[in-house]
Amino acid sequence: MKVYYSEYLQLDKVLTAQQPVSCKLGECMHDEHFFIVLHQTHELWFKQIIYELESINKLFITHRHPLAVALPRMRRVFEIMKAILPELKLLETLSQEQFFQFRDFIAPASGSQSYQFKMIELILGLRNLDEELSNTDHLNEKQLTLLVSTGANLSLQKQTDLYLKEFYSTYNNNFFLERLPSYLKHLHDCGAIFEVLGSDIKDYQDAFIVDGEYEFGEAKFDKISLQSALICLYACENKNLEPLNHIYDFIFLISEIESVFKSWKEIHAMVVRNILGFKSGTGGTTGYLYLKDRINKLSGSAFAKIIYQHDLLIKI
Ligand code: HEM
Repeated sequence: MKVYYSEYLQLDKVLTAQQPVSCKLGECMHDEHFFIVLHQTHELWFKQIIYELESINKLFITHRHPLAVALPRMRRVFEIMKAILPELKLLETLSQEQFFQFRDFIAPASGSQSYQFKMIELILGLRNLDEELSNTDHLNEKQLTLLVSTGANLSLQKQTDLYLKEFYSTYNNNFFLERLPSYLKHLHDCGAIFEVLGSDIKDYQDAFIVDGEYEFGEAKFDKISLQSALICLYACENKNLEPLNHIYDFIFLISEIESVFKSWKEIHAMVVRNILGFKSGTGGTTGYLYLKDRINKLSGSAFAKIIYQHDLLIKI
């Protein structure tokens, strides 16, 4: 079958999907087209990110050794997120005056109604389903179902935690039993172990038998099992040792993705402050202040904290 470029990419659909509301109302506002394209390109990238993240989540269920396949996909997610950061900066070419020429026409539509964005937050485990479902009037039934089923699945953080716990128990148990106690002692001597694992760990040998969950700070999702916390710490220390290198690369990418996601939110909030000032958003929130509050309430994963903690240790 022969396919040509336009058909293959369904460009007739993609390139006719820019329909400024101002035009429908009778007078096209020049800058609204740019506003639409910028949102649409973001949504396309969000789609690709979800595609990769969902496939990674499936790998954890179907593969015994998922990381070799999952790693390049995680790297792609990270690179996509990095690539869309500067795209937001394009909004510096949209002045407040230009935005306000069509702003009132588009309300109550708002980026806060992006179900793909909510999906990414859910898959990464940065928010819980209740938070994402707090305002869903704008979602159609299909979107709502997708969101609920995504929220019902384990987040990538949880999947990784389970995998590492399993890894600990199946991968040459002696390997860890022989090395980890002295490593933990080393961490303890550096004065950092308590901050990572909690001060109740007295006997380090016991640490491998305890089947507890470790909670970092108050964030609801910041929980991983003790075993995976230990494996992560050890992987941080032995980044080049197979198969710990894959584990290190994976948790490093989780923490990098979280951090770039947060940067996106921060740049978005800055752009919003420049364009809107302290005026309310089209979605009806307080705008900039609401966005700042959302950033502050974002959970961070335990993996990011472990890497941070380990990097601190190196500096001691
Ligand atoms: C003129 C440019 C923009 C302005 C003034 C703006 C403003 C806002 C405001 C005020 C909110 C809070 C909800 C509300 O009351 O509407 C919001 C949320 C959001 N916007 Fe934008 N935005 C702009 C561009 C973009 C772009 C290009 C995207 C890309 C998809 C985007 C995605 C989002 C997302 C995902 C949220 C939800 C954030 C969260 O829940 O933490 N926005 N935006």
